[in-house]
Amino acid sequence: MPKSIEQICAGLDIAARFRQPMRRLTSLRVGGEIACVAFPDTPEKAAKLVQQLDESGQRWSPLGYGTNLLVADGPLDRVAVSVRSLTAPARFDGLRVTVPAGYSLPRLVNQCADRGLSGIEGLSPIPGSVGGAVKMNAGSHGYEIADVIESVEVAQDGRVVTLPRAAIDFAYRHSPFTERDLILGATLRLRPGDAEASRAAIAEYRRHRAATQPVNANSAGCIFKNPRSGPATGRLIDELGLKGETIGGATISPCHANFIVTNGAARADDIFALIERIRQRVRAARGVELEMEVKVWD
Ligand code: EPU
Repeated sequence: MPKSIEQICAGLDIAARFRQPMRRLTSLRVGGEIACVAFPDTPEKAAKLVQQLDESGQRWSPLGYGTNLLVADGPLDRVAVSVRSLTAPARFDGLRVTVPAGYSLPRLVNQCADRGLSGIEGLSPIPGSVGGAVKMNAGSHGYEIADVIESVEVAQDGRVVTLPRAAIDFAYRHSPFTERDLILGATLRLRPGDAEASRAAIAEYRRHRAATQPVNANSAGCIFKNPRSGPATGRLIDELGLKGETIGGATISPCHANFIVTNGAARADDIFALIERIRQRVRAARGVELEMEVKVWD
């Protein structure tokens, strides 16, 4: 008999919550009930957890802070493996810093700046976890986290394995890590910098974001990637006059056209329908095939 999720979590002493509404775990505030959310509190336990879930045939997905995630309305028969409890303190060593996957990216950016370590200032407005940022090679203001990654810790065969940067093929908003990979932590290598200058740059990036993006609304950041060439997606959608278009509780942000914002009544299906409408209009008018930036669980 394969072990149940309850047995696996209890056996590894991992906190688990059952039948959780994903709308409470994502910044878009939509998503149906998931069978289980597990909160391993060490990388070693997390690696054993996903190995045992695999062995027992249970589907699982890594869950960061849920800030770049669109979850379908249905009931979801899977385990979300949350990195929220992987929050050991950052370990600084010269120009290097090692952090667990559940570490807050804005917090890390601030701590690096305070220590005079430069190279990730532009990532400061991204409201996600380090694990999520590595998974999608998060970027902003010309910075990408891949630029400073020295190694990434992942779960492999029940153990914590360190992959060097050279073994990881990052691209614009892309890493080779899949839904089958659990990122457990990362080591970044920064440059010597000036704390005052870094703090000033961070303040400016945050000010810019607040002026150009709907920071107080429920969203998952940019819905689509930018095309490899030509105008940014936000501009394409804006030029088609789609800002403010609404389906149910989901609206194309009047502030930035590559954001979909939701109200309390929104369902994931409203967002999927809006995404389809945008794609069709951009395809028909500009011949551009928009690619999703936000991760989807359906
Ligand atoms: N624009 C419009 N109308 C809009 C939005 C944008 O005309 O409604 C124009 C802007 O005026 C600008 C161009 O489109 O000329 C690009 O806009 P912006 O500077 O806002 O940057 P972006 O390309 O839309 C990218 C990232 C953001 C990141 C910002 C700041 C992607 C898909 N998006 O946005 O990342 O915060 O640069 O560096 O690469 C995210 O990944 O979730 C995200 C928000």
